Amino acid sequence: MSSPGELLLDVRDLRTHLDTKNGLVRAVDGVSFRLHAGETLGIIGESGSGKSMTALSILQVVPQPAARIVGGEVLYRGDNLLEKNESEMRQVRGREIAMILQDPQTSLNPVFTIGNQIVEALQIHRRTDGRKALVRRAIEALKEVRIADPEARIRSYPHEMSGGMKQRAVGALAISCGPRIIIADEPTTSLDVTIQAQYLRLLRDLQRETGLAILFITHDFGIVAKVCQRLLVMYAGRVVESGPVQAVFDNPSHPYTKALLRSVVRADSRAERLEAIEGQPPALWGLPAGCRFATRCPHADDRCHEEYPPPFDIGGASSEHVASCWRQEDPA
Ligand SMILES: Nc1ncnc2c1ncn2[C@@H]1O[C@H](COP(=O)(O)OP(=O)(O)OP(=O)(O)O)[C@@H](O)[C@H]1O
Ligand SMILES: [Mg+2]
Repeated sequence: MSSPGELLLDVRDLRTHLDTKNGLVRAVDGVSFRLHAGETLGIIGESGSGKSMTALSILQVVPQPAARIVGGEVLYRGDNLLEKNESEMRQVRGREIAMILQDPQTSLNPVFTIGNQIVEALQIHRRTDGRKALVRRAIEALKEVRIADPEARIRSYPHEMSGGMKQRAVGALAISCGPRIIIADEPTTSLDVTIQAQYLRLLRDLQRETGLAILFITHDFGIVAKVCQRLLVMYAGRVVESGPVQAVFDNPSHPYTKALLRSVVRADSRAERLEAIEGQPPALWGLPAGCRFATRCPHADDRCHEEYPPPFDIGGASSEHVASCWRQEDPA
């Protein structure tokens, strides 16, 4: 368990490149943020903006051989994870930082029971415990994610469970080793709305009980409003705006954030995907020097096309609210 408010993750200028048939893709291009115990930090942005690649880079599980982490630091409780070797990283994954993926199918192995999969994950970190103790812990984990009759469920195979139950099982797998951080990459996309709400409530309860920090990747501003305290808005491999959720909602300051929020309001009652903004995100190979949103931005001038804007302080009640947009330099 972490002390409340402890700085757990300090990501500095993270850069991950991909070799593709079109050339070098700067999928993560200088991303920085901090995550504290007990908080939920959201990452939002269109498809391809580098959200998942950021998450995968933190745990060094980027797709091989295409991707390479080429720069930056990932400080976990002061230790740079990027300097750790594979066997040291195996001690971090699951035990310190766990990941929940969008599609439970990719996290659960169809040929093993849920119980066996949790026990196997536990074994990596609790080698001295006997099988009985590990099974007990697996049952506890299923209980913690509110799976009914966990003593019986532990013997179920993934195909014997509903979508919502499978997603809970993935949650149980993630929390079983007692991590301080969970990275949840769109964990609710495949769930219907009621089950989604239950799952979000569950994550919040777990967080309250354990001081867990959550990095929550999503397309959905409604979910951000429900579960996140702070937010990063990503565009083409970079964070273009970040700050407390309320400050960003009340005073969105990057034209991209504004456009995203407008697209949600414009869409019908439920806007799942952020596709209503005119134009396309730029190809991530051969990016221009200037602001990547410039080609879609109604306010862009010459400087925007030529020079990348630094993060400007938006001010207001929070000093943490920043946006990388030249218009903020002198917002009069
Ligand atoms: N295995 C891969 N090989 C080559 N390029 C990839 C691979 N995975 C991702 N990319 C590219 O890296 C960039 C960032 O992708 P990433 O998966 O991080 O986006 P994302 O923001 O998570 O999108 P989504 O919302 O669709 O999940 C994209 O341009 C994508 O095409
Ligand atoms: Mg993704």
